[in-house]
Amino acid sequence: MKKIDVVLGLQWGDEGKGKVVDVLTPRYDVIARFQGGPNAGHSLHFNDKSYVLHTIPSGIFRDGSINVIGNGVVIDPVILAEEIHTLEADGVDVRSKLVISKRAHLILPTHRMLDAASEAAKGAGKIGSTLKGIGPTYMDKTGRNGLRMGDVLSPEFEARYNALKAKHDEMLRGLYNFEYDVTEYEAKWMEGIEVLEQFPIVDSEIEVNNYIVGDKAILAEGAQGSMLDVDFGTYPFVTSSNTLCAGVCTGLGVAPTRIGEVYGIFKAYCTRVGSGPFPTELFDETGEKLRQLGHEFGATTGRPRRCGWLDMVALKYAVMMNGVTGLIMMKSDILNDFDTIKVCVGYEVGGEKVDYFPYEVADSVTPIYREFKGWMCDTTKMRTYDELPAEFKEYIKFIETETGVPVKIVSLGPDREETIMR
Ligand code: IMO
Ligand code: MG
Repeated sequence: MKKIDVVLGLQWGDEGKGKVVDVLTPRYDVIARFQGGPNAGHSLHFNDKSYVLHTIPSGIFRDGSINVIGNGVVIDPVILAEEIHTLEADGVDVRSKLVISKRAHLILPTHRMLDAASEAAKGAGKIGSTLKGIGPTYMDKTGRNGLRMGDVLSPEFEARYNALKAKHDEMLRGLYNFEYDVTEYEAKWMEGIEVLEQFPIVDSEIEVNNYIVGDKAILAEGAQGSMLDVDFGTYPFVTSSNTLCAGVCTGLGVAPTRIGEVYGIFKAYCTRVGSGPFPTELFDETGEKLRQLGHEFGATTGRPRRCGWLDMVALKYAVMMNGVTGLIMMKSDILNDFDTIKVCVGYEVGGEKVDYFPYEVADSVTPIYREFKGWMCDTTKMRTYDELPAEFKEYIKFIETETGVPVKIVSLGPDREETIMR
């Protein structure tokens, strides 16, 4: 019996999950998303083309793959139908490769409005949400009011949709005094539902467990990152799902004993989009240089990402809670042109030094840095570990020693080919 391997982000999202899943997919028969929704933006580049996936697993481009949207995912039919159409227009066969869980919750047009109203009401304390309706949809899920993919097949679907919409309307007008009009989006939403109805809407937990028993190789693809986890991230500046490895169990219906390798992805530096604590954030020209060289602008919202040095304290926290067995370092090439590279190895909190990620991180913590000599050369054409400059290898070795986990893949550029496997 094969185990499910997992690939997930260890920072604040945007670590490069799309590219890595795409690189890993030849080894897997099934790729499954287990949480999050269209707040994700997974970028892939190959054959001189770029794609951004929001809801569809990144295995969709590989022939013969099965791509599962699990029960832990929240779906906006407008965005998912658009993704399907864009891929099909480009010649990708989506129909034979995509299945959707009956238990996945639906993002209603009014969930998006509630997201906007809630953020507006928070003023300066806003989370910086992608405004895709993620939080309100998970609230309705745990509040036991949600609509699920399986409900689409019921004759009462429209009535249930209208009842939930009416409830949202009361909140929007009564509680938030929020003016809105979803008529146009709602029409597209209903069209989206019709598109999704043409796909297999299944008991995905049964299918996934059958794949396990049937010795199929399965890769679970995370969205967002560990530091955005609703329990362990920088709450309340987090997303509304469990982005950690534990989310694979609840988001696909598999037992913890079925988890195999856990690949943790991190960028060689750090970024964050939206509000909230970010201890190593740089506000100077070094931060701007990382942003420009790394093209650090959101794949979902286009917002400029906040940039800073690698935070080893946060990284070790994420490695611990995910049980990471292999590390994957992304965007190392962006550091090619820095003569000094810094890594945060501890924090100063209220005059005391700590080497773990404390609850108090929300109040200002001061990072303690260790400096590394940069390699100052172009690595993008290198294809083996041995070719890498000594300073680069030292950086990797430091990360391996600190985390106790091997760095198994190093990415040196956005393209599939620009990857070193160890
Ligand atoms: P991928 O999968 C980076 C951030 C938002 C915001 C907070 C809450 O591409 O790595 P939400 O829309 O969930 O209410 O937003 O989480 N966020 C992400 N940041 N990458 C993502 O996904 C993100 N998804 C949500 O910016 O700060
Ligand atoms: Mg993204």
